[in-house]
Amino acid sequence: MEVLIKESYEEMSKQAAEMIADIVRRKPRAVLGLATGSTPVGTYKELIRLHKEEGLDFSKVTTFNLDEYVGLQHDHPQSYHYFMAENLFNHININPKNTHVPDGTAKDIPAFCQTYEEWIVKAGGLDVQLLGIGGNGHIAFNEPGSSLGSRTRVKTLDEKTRQDNARFFKNMDEVPKYAITMGIGTIMEARQLILLANKESKAAAIAQTCEGPVTAMVPATIVQLHPKATIIVDKAAGSKLSREYPAEPHILVVS
Ligand code: GLP
Repeated sequence: MEVLIKESYEEMSKQAAEMIADIVRRKPRAVLGLATGSTPVGTYKELIRLHKEEGLDFSKVTTFNLDEYVGLQHDHPQSYHYFMAENLFNHININPKNTHVPDGTAKDIPAFCQTYEEWIVKAGGLDVQLLGIGGNGHIAFNEPGSSLGSRTRVKTLDEKTRQDNARFFKNMDEVPKYAITMGIGTIMEARQLILLANKESKAAAIAQTCEGPVTAMVPATIVQLHPKATIIVDKAAGSKLSREYPAEPHILVVS
């Protein structure tokens, strides 16, 4: 696991975007696992810039999003469908048919969740999964206590998560109670993980994620078991880490 502590949110976002762009340049048919929330917005801005100014080509890329609220229509401003269109898809040359966000309006949600898993497998698996982190250590909507081997399914949101997200809705009653989320087992099958966090409010969760024991009570700690995970944080989110994290050498062959 590599931990990169960046000076600022902008630096964190640039690093993440560059890592994703590198995958797309090397593999034009890359399958990207994407995330929502305020954290990855800067990464998406940078990917849009790379597309517009440097011709980064998304025409053959496929994407799968981590999660979606149950019951929100796709054009609801707080739905993750809407978020992805606004923050990324509408600004790059991706084929909308190749973008997938869980369908919170599906009539048969368990069947949809199974299908979503099958779509990921059919696409060839996720080359990279981008992750944010909740203040309680959740990833996607896998709340504390989620099975570390879980698959895509419907989850009840923690009260803390609902309160954290309440700022986006008119009042607490409007905040959805359930969400469809990729499971922790699903996420762990991605070939690479990039977990982002900024702000002091994430510092405790990041310290546990990097330095605490692996536990279902802090779902993000599972990334310690992934063979290729990078955690990128700004100074504030990294402020409770207890050890130094020197940059890992990227020179693989020394002649
Ligand atoms: C939601 C999302 C998560 C995200 C988290 C943190 O719960 N389901 O994927 O990581 O919010 O959001 P933010 O980045 O706004 O702090």
